[in-house]
Amino acid sequence: MESVRRLRIIGKHQETPDTATFTLEAADEKALPAYRPGQFLSLILYPHGKEIRRAYSFSSSPATDKALTITVKRVVNGAASNWLLDHVDAGDEVLSASVAGQFVLPAPLPRRLVYLAAGSGITPVMSHLKTLLATPEGPEILLLYANRDSANTIFKKQIDDWQEQFPERFTCRYFFSREKNAAHSTFGHLNKSGFEEALHRFLGRRITGAHRRDTVFFLCAPNALMRMARMTLRVLDFPEKNIRQEFYQPVRQPALRTVDTTKTHTIRVVQGGEQFQFETFEGETILNAALRQGIQLPYTCKAGVCLTCLAQCTGGQVDLVFAESTRREGSGAMINTCIGYAASKAVDLKLE
Ligand code: FES
Repeated sequence: MESVRRLRIIGKHQETPDTATFTLEAADEKALPAYRPGQFLSLILYPHGKEIRRAYSFSSSPATDKALTITVKRVVNGAASNWLLDHVDAGDEVLSASVAGQFVLPAPLPRRLVYLAAGSGITPVMSHLKTLLATPEGPEILLLYANRDSANTIFKKQIDDWQEQFPERFTCRYFFSREKNAAHSTFGHLNKSGFEEALHRFLGRRITGAHRRDTVFFLCAPNALMRMARMTLRVLDFPEKNIRQEFYQPVRQPALRTVDTTKTHTIRVVQGGEQFQFETFEGETILNAALRQGIQLPYTCKAGVCLTCLAQCTGGQVDLVFAESTRREGSGAMINTCIGYAASKAVDLKLE
């Protein structure tokens, strides 16, 4: 079952006109949640009396910051983010579910890291950068960072300070769509030619096998920008395994399935020393079935994006219905309960 924590806001710092960083401490008797750079915290909020959940990446790093921070940007119709920015302040408490996320640094570290971020996509990248720049003789880093202008660029001062402090290890190229002639910047949207040119400037005109093996890319931007970057990198022959992405938006919602209440499946769950079981109807996701019966399995996005709901299948079969494909998984596979439908009479799951 999901473990829910109480956290207290102890600071709120305005980063740009529409973005603030919240500093959090434990409001219950437990220690602060542990996390890795690049992971996120799921907040459970009640803006208008109705529960909504959102994932917020840590902008702090466990290597350099005692406190936890998350950075939140105002978005059009953003029920959770806008409510946090407008109504939550130092002294208030919020509920949080799990820490999760796979946008984490590889071990061992490669020789080079290239980041592509846009807007608030910088938040998990910030957690990486703090960690990497605190590591002596860490990798060479290129950050490509797209925004409207410098006034709306989150963490710009810190990034500029790092460029001064670590000129041999850290380079940032800004892309400003509405500001000309700013230092370290290119005017215009970040597109394929700008991306390729920045890569060549970083790696040299000729991209070698060593560059391909020893450079890892992290993309955290709107889907269209990440798609452009991924395709460009694949054309340049960078291996798929060296390209990591953080998704904020589902690519497309899967079609709704018809729920057949005459057919059921049994889901047996093991978590720690505990076991419990529940039934799902045919056409109902495992997560929705659990929640309908008052069983709190962990989740945030309910769309196959955030991976908060991952469980290991240890028996039976599960259909994972993504936006554009269905994959059948069996024993040993990690499955997302939010897009997972039982495909055998019984399914066994193991939760961390
Ligand atoms: S809840 Fe986000 S992937 Fe399932």
